[in-house]
Amino acid sequence: MPQTDFGELLRQHRFAAGLSQEELARRAGLSGDAIAALERGRRRTPRPLTVRLLAEALALPDHERAHFIDTARGLPRRTTAGDRPIPAATPVPAGQLIGRRAELAAAAQVLTATPVRLLTLSGPGGVGKSRLAIAAADAVGDSFPGGHFWISLSPPDRAPAAGVAAATGLPRPSAHRDLTDVLDLVAEQLGDRRALLVLDDCERVVHDAATICEELLQRCPHLHVLATSREPLHVSGERVTPIRPLPIDDAVTMFHTRAIAHGVQPTADEHGDVRQICRHVDGIPLAVELAASRLNILTVKQVVMELARSSAILAGTDRTAPHRHQTWHASLQWSYDLLTADERTFFAAMSIFSGGWTIAAARAVSAGLAMTTERHDVVVELTSKLVDASLCLVRRERGFARYDMLGLVREYAARQLTRHPARAHVEREHLRHFTALAAAAEPHLLGPDGARWISMLDAELANLRAAMLRALTRGYITAALRLLDSLATYCHLRGLDTEWQAWRESLWT
Ligand SMILES: Nc1ncnc2c1ncn2[C@@H]1O[C@H](COP(=O)(O)OP(=O)(O)OP(=O)(O)O)[C@@H](O)[C@H]1O
Ligand SMILES: [Mg+2]
Repeated sequence: MPQTDFGELLRQHRFAAGLSQEELARRAGLSGDAIAALERGRRRTPRPLTVRLLAEALALPDHERAHFIDTARGLPRRTTAGDRPIPAATPVPAGQLIGRRAELAAAAQVLTATPVRLLTLSGPGGVGKSRLAIAAADAVGDSFPGGHFWISLSPPDRAPAAGVAAATGLPRPSAHRDLTDVLDLVAEQLGDRRALLVLDDCERVVHDAATICEELLQRCPHLHVLATSREPLHVSGERVTPIRPLPIDDAVTMFHTRAIAHGVQPTADEHGDVRQICRHVDGIPLAVELAASRLNILTVKQVVMELARSSAILAGTDRTAPHRHQTWHASLQWSYDLLTADERTFFAAMSIFSGGWTIAAARAVSAGLAMTTERHDVVVELTSKLVDASLCLVRRERGFARYDMLGLVREYAARQLTRHPARAHVEREHLRHFTALAAAAEPHLLGPDGARWISMLDAELANLRAAMLRALTRGYITAALRLLDSLATYCHLRGLDTEWQAWRESLWT
């Protein structure tokens, strides 16, 4: 790659400072024509005084100033990296990667052995997307002789343009420089180099992340991008790999590792409790870490008990962690804050379900809420948004999709619903919907189509139980009686007579 010439370097710095040729000329005490002549290469050997005045006017930091002066003299860059941009450091992980062998192998394979040039690791907050990206970038390093660049898009106080500039060794752009200008420069620098760009934590600025990918992938034919995001970028050519929580055995290993780091070694007797904690937090690495960090003041058993009360216990002690990783609630709030008002209401309303829901049920419970959810397509759209934001999961069962939330996510959504003016309405609609479903099923249960209706009630058993419990505790006697009546045959067929009797007794007492 040819060495950058002085005119080009001057243009880049001027661009980064957000100055026109005339403004720079005024600051440096030179003429506009002189600047234009230098940038266009009409004057190739500027006088040392001119170079110093320009460096001054551009307020170049020391290392840039040295390079600027050297380039004016026709000297090569003083770094061993030749003309490569200086890659921003990949974050150094606190410990070994636990598990994730299959995910790592799959990511490496996609990045090195397929035509896919944009791979997005998506998944809920704290599930381990960034940690996996660190490992993947490391694993495929040799396949990218052009180096790899790590751009974190999470710092709320840094514009994406500044993040991109920092990661690729460009001077810091001034506040009013837009992303397209910076991408022009980066594309020029990367050229046809075979390099890997890691775009970490894209969800906060997902549109900018999409622009970065589109622009650079189009202009740099051998560039590959590995993105991590709670939400897919939806850019053409993107391959999305959903990252699931850790399997329980790996989560348990992680809990032990983190506990030891806090100076506590769980005993063999505590093993069952450790498993229970890991199951309670669904194997989400961040939540496992936060739970283990509580061993600084609690026993394993106490953590189990506290978690049963509330996930507010999940708060860490690591002062260097980003804010959204210091507590579990902050991690969820990060996603919640990115939703619109309607999406928030819908998210809160969906916490009413136990054991998942269907589009029809979502439509029923949110009917009458402000976002006109009677309309099927609006419900589909809102559901799709929650799935995209990794706040809800899709399960495909026998040709039908059901939706659900991880336990800790549902708990957070339920807290939002408790405070929401629509809470009572949503509860009533949930009860109405499942009472109607049980009543519709009842006449068919012993008929030729019985198996289908029974399996439909099986899928909704958790919701039917929740509806019954709510009817009993809230004193909706008519609905409770109707539900009890409709469920008698089903409960008998499923060997749930004792539970049915218990409902009946609490209704009459
Ligand atoms: N497989 C793993 N082995 C060891 N540590 C892990 C693993 N997965 C995640 N972690 C740790 O768990 C914490 C959360 O992981 P990470 O930051 O990768 O989550 P994330 O999905 O990128 O979250 P966010 O959506 O908030 O960016 C980090 O401290 C990380 O080091
Ligand atoms: Mg991350």
